[in-house]
Amino acid sequence: MTHRVAVLPGDGVGPEVVAEARKAVDALGLAVAWTELPWGSAYYRENGRMMPEDALDTLRGHDALLLGAVGHPSVPDHIALWGTILEIRQGLDLWANLRPCRLLPGIPSSLEGRGPEDVDFLVVRENTEGEYAGVGGRSHEGHDSEVALETSVFTRAGVRRVVRYAFELAASRRGTLTSATKSNASRFGYVLWDEVVEETAAEFDGVRIERVLVDALAARMVRDPGSLDVVVASNLFGDILTDIAAAIQGGMGMAASANLAPGSDTIGVFEPVHGSAPDIAGQGIANPSGAIWSASLMLEHLGEAEAAGALMRALEAVCAEGPRTRDVGGEATTAEVGDAVADAVSALR
Ligand code: NAD
Ligand code: IPM
Ligand code: MN
Repeated sequence: MTHRVAVLPGDGVGPEVVAEARKAVDALGLAVAWTELPWGSAYYRENGRMMPEDALDTLRGHDALLLGAVGHPSVPDHIALWGTILEIRQGLDLWANLRPCRLLPGIPSSLEGRGPEDVDFLVVRENTEGEYAGVGGRSHEGHDSEVALETSVFTRAGVRRVVRYAFELAASRRGTLTSATKSNASRFGYVLWDEVVEETAAEFDGVRIERVLVDALAARMVRDPGSLDVVVASNLFGDILTDIAAAIQGGMGMAASANLAPGSDTIGVFEPVHGSAPDIAGQGIANPSGAIWSASLMLEHLGEAEAAGALMRALEAVCAEGPRTRDVGGEATTAEVGDAVADAVSALR
């Protein structure tokens, strides 16, 4: 069966890292039909929108989307992101964002004295509502009385599905689920979240649940990452915690993610956690590891567990032996790392 994979390279370093992820997948010799989508900030400058009107239907005609990054100084960020990634996540109802945090051997952590044995947890980020519901507005623009409202929206059903999925993942791992909220200060949405966590815990005898305030969790993630197994958090908290997690696993270039609607046949969207990195774009020095790792998550989701494993082993071998890009202590270019992963894949097959 041929996998129909849409590719949205996007802006900045997006195309640079996605090219290497494709190279690595192609080296696996699977039947993959790639469709490259020219959407993003350049498309906006020509068409006045980030994606065509029927973009979601186009995506629904594929089995997966591999995404690079979006964001360019020429387009206001909220227009660029609400016109692409956020629209895709919400429009396809991809409610779970999985972000594995593992320090691969050979990669230096931002935490001194920590090695791969200390860093192996998974963040499950709520991905369609909460602080990213997109509900709000502005009025009295330009006056001193100007008002801007940004309303968080937490639904029982929305919280329940992501919390339950996180419990299932914890049950399949080391059996600890850490739920992050800020229900001491925000007294509605996060209190509902806490209640749903308590209710759901009753269904999962084998999972130890801890409720932690997100500020304390941020500190603990740095101080004692080894104490974490699965973390479940709201949209904004999951976003912030996974940039900390990325630093712990070697930097923004290392972190991968999968946007999923578990239990449905909706396509998954796979993307590195990092953005378009305008500060290094066009120099050929971006780390493609997060994009390659995301491609491995994609293959797993497409039912290619063996190929996904081979790709991950190839990435691990290259991290261990080099070449590495400069953000993780090497001197290699993006393409040199991608070539090395593709070679390692061929050697494994
Ligand atoms: P960023 O992740 O692009 O960059 C943060 C830092 O990490 C920079 O110093 C950058 O050089 C470094 N970095 C990022 N990716 C790297 C890689 N692959 N290899 C080595 N270093 C890497 O975040 P930002 O600067 O806050 O945002 C830049 C733009 O990207 C903004 O427009 C933002 O809205 C957008 N953004 C998009 C996504 C996405 O498309 N998924 C995610 C985050 C930010
Ligand atoms: C991420 C990014 C996005 C987010 C931005 C670009 C909207 O930071 O995927 O982590 O906040 O979800
Ligand atoms: Mn982010």
